[in-house]
Amino acid sequence: MVGRWLDPACGDGAFLLEFVRRLADAVPAAELPRTVEERVFGFDLDITAVDAARVAVREEVERRCGALSSAFLAGNIRVADFLELDPEPDYDVIAGNPPYVSATQLTAAEKERFLERFATAWGRLDLYTLFIEHGLRFLRAGGRLAYITPDKWLGAASNRRLRTHLARNYVPRTIDRFERHDLFPGVATVPCVTMIERPRSPVPTPASPMVRWWSVDPGGGPQPVSDAREVSIRSDGTPWLVARPVPPVEADHAPLGDLVERISVGVATGLNSCFVLDAEGVRSIEPELLRPVARGRDIAVGQIRDAKRWMLVPYCFSDDGTAAELIDLDEFPGAAAHLARHQEALKRRHCVRVWGKAWYDLHDPITFDLARRTKVLLPDLAQHPRFAVDNGRALPLHSAYYVLPRPGGPLDAGALADALNDPVVAEELRTRAPTAKSGYRRFRAQILRDILVPLASRSDRDAA
Ligand SMILES: C[S@@+](CC[C@H](N)C(=O)[O-])C[C@H]1O[C@@H](n2cnc3c(N)ncnc32)[C@H](O)[C@@H]1O
Repeated sequence: MVGRWLDPACGDGAFLLEFVRRLADAVPAAELPRTVEERVFGFDLDITAVDAARVAVREEVERRCGALSSAFLAGNIRVADFLELDPEPDYDVIAGNPPYVSATQLTAAEKERFLERFATAWGRLDLYTLFIEHGLRFLRAGGRLAYITPDKWLGAASNRRLRTHLARNYVPRTIDRFERHDLFPGVATVPCVTMIERPRSPVPTPASPMVRWWSVDPGGGPQPVSDAREVSIRSDGTPWLVARPVPPVEADHAPLGDLVERISVGVATGLNSCFVLDAEGVRSIEPELLRPVARGRDIAVGQIRDAKRWMLVPYCFSDDGTAAELIDLDEFPGAAAHLARHQEALKRRHCVRVWGKAWYDLHDPITFDLARRTKVLLPDLAQHPRFAVDNGRALPLHSAYYVLPRPGGPLDAGALADALNDPVVAEELRTRAPTAKSGYRRFRAQILRDILVPLASRSDRDAA
């Protein structure tokens, strides 16, 4: 237990208190105030939080060694915007729970400043990723940083630069992953804890962190659900994901991700009240721009209910559906008049304001005619997974996922849906999916990719 410790976004001091408790176990009580002042440091933007943290830490020390002056730790725990501080590589341990603030909550000016200042800021940046980059600059050689953050950055395309930067310049040691998203009230995110070391000498090849999976029960602490496994990382920013270890499998199973062309969430429009219409709403719109939609709730086992709703898809597709182009509004007066009525709200969408998309474009990229492809659909959120084949009719909305069979692949859409609705596979999927609200499970793409599916149907196996 050596050196200087910092929580760069200390809030009311949860991590600082833990530093102090550990120091209290290691040094005699009479030494504690001096040791704490030499070693424990915290910053926060919020003056109320800083005051609360100072008081909490002082009281923790006083409990063990008597009254201290109110100036105790005044220089150590202070108001600061950590992202604006010039780095001083002064710390041996940096630990904390940095703010999770996504690009959508930042002003354009803030975002621009971050894009200029941080090498890893790109696309949909989030403050916690900047806290990773900046925090590492404050470490002495050999020092370690450990944060609890959302796990998105381990796989998201917009965090490629961060993964590249870490793999090339630092030594990621451990990643602890959790199965639940509800560890923090009101924060819908699946957390992970990452520990990264600042090396004493340049990193010749990327180091491989060890990944452990934990389950968390509401009443109890985390329980390991796997042994630690090494994830080999590359310096090109490839995702740092390893599947949760699964029980040994028969050779006639394969991960779904290896069998299909694509697994993805359905289309987000950014303004469903404009783009998703009922029978009345579609009347004035050119039929070639309309696709029936499927929402999560419309999907039952083996069956998709007619939602009696259509999406206005402002795209023209090539005859084979593989190329897509945003429409020219002059050519579609019906759609143009409808979109114009929503113009103000459409322009306020993130994809228009921040990404600079055309005001009547959809939020998500459209690169092919998804509705017209045969695919397997499932709801993103459900108590039990439910899969059904759509024979090239419906466009899944954001509340559904779709699995596109690989043309000529080992399982067509019907066989895939059967395999995925198999009770053993469905139960395995249910237990792996993180719990969302009130017992519902969230079937994220990564979990779907990793699920092992039988290559022969149950009846084939029974007959064999
Ligand atoms: C998720 S809270 C974590 C608080 C504490 N570490 C804990 O676990 O209880 C994040 C804290 O970051 C602070 N914060 C946000 N932006 C900051 C910045 N740029 N510099 C320093 N602190 C910041 C917020 O005021 C908030 O207290």
